[in-house]
Amino acid sequence: TRVALAFSGGLDTTVCVPLLEEEYGYDDVIGVTVDVGQPASEFEEAEETAEALGLDHYVVDAKEEFAQLCLDSVRANATYQGYPLGTALARPVIANAILEVAEEQGCTGIAHGCTGKGNDQLRFEAVWRDSDLEVIAPVRELGLTREWEQEYADEKGLPVEGGSGGDWSVDTNLWSRSVEGDELEDPSYVPPKEIYEWTNDPSAETQEIEIAFEKGYPIAVDGVEYDPVDLIEHLNGVAGAYGVGRTDSMEDRMLGLKVRENYEHPAATTLLNAHEALEGLVLTQEEREFKQLIDQRWSKKGYEGLIDAPLVDALEGFVDETQQRVTGTVTIRFEGGQARAVARDSEYAAYSAEHASFDTETVGKIEQEDATGVAKYHGFQRRLANSVTENEDED
Ligand code: ARG
Ligand code: SIN
Repeated sequence: TRVALAFSGGLDTTVCVPLLEEEYGYDDVIGVTVDVGQPASEFEEAEETAEALGLDHYVVDAKEEFAQLCLDSVRANATYQGYPLGTALARPVIANAILEVAEEQGCTGIAHGCTGKGNDQLRFEAVWRDSDLEVIAPVRELGLTREWEQEYADEKGLPVEGGSGGDWSVDTNLWSRSVEGDELEDPSYVPPKEIYEWTNDPSAETQEIEIAFEKGYPIAVDGVEYDPVDLIEHLNGVAGAYGVGRTDSMEDRMLGLKVRENYEHPAATTLLNAHEALEGLVLTQEEREFKQLIDQRWSKKGYEGLIDAPLVDALEGFVDETQQRVTGTVTIRFEGGQARAVARDSEYAAYSAEHASFDTETVGKIEQEDATGVAKYHGFQRRLANSVTENEDED
């Protein structure tokens, strides 16, 4: 009997290999690593560990699919409690890729190394429980702790390294890098510099770049067109150098537990800020207001790992309609760790400098005087209501 394991080469997934044989009775474990833009070193680690374990190891490239999903999320201004959803959006992509390998390889089981406390177990299993495979979560089902895992690995002589520069649990992909656990679990603990790999400390230096959007999708930087993967990688490099895109937050997980999370996401922050600035120019007030609700629901489904829910298709219908005019350019200035929009331009601007200017008298038959009637009515009900309570106070 054969089982496919979501394999990263880290401690959790490494101890899962012998446990799937010993505790679950599978005699053949295959490891699957899905490329969603992790650094090369992670694949080397996975490859080396797999080899040392004698594990059949498959690598699936899902980078382009994932990058496209990240850019879809930009159109919905997607964030959850300030976090641009890198891990969350990657999970269904990874889960589907592993399921495909599992089915091709005739597996009867499929396993992950997530804990019973986090979000990822829910995201993986939401995909896998659609299949006929036995879903196995050894860390959760056997109640494993990291300490136990470490001892077990030592005892068995499993090839796990101590982890470089800390015992944090790190999850990296194209869109974000997450660091949690160990001392970081103390909300009052100030993270040391070493947790950051993508972002420098903000410096006095500044730089401006121009991002071009077409129908809500970023397509070019400073006049150079990029495909989604290259665009995100390029911006992670440029913006990261200026310390853009750090989040340190108390995150409310799906189970209700709070977790102290640290993230780095330079490209995401840059693109999200630029996109929102362009929407500010081209969308009407009521579109912007209503879209916030849509964006929030999109983000929540993204966080839940349920991006293929029918609701998301429906939300996408609205998003797509609004994005038809989100074409133009935005200039972003990297400054003090921020990526701030400092200029925007679009042929679809719902804006008239002529009308709004303090310098012009009459445009298209609208004069300052015309606002007098509106000013008289503004706050009418509030005036009435307040005068009633004032009279009551006097009684
Ligand atoms: N809390 C984040 C999320 O649910 C990221 C978790 C990433 N995992 C990790 N081991 N750092 O999307
Ligand atoms: C885990 O608990 O396995 C990682 C973090 C998460 O899923 O939220």
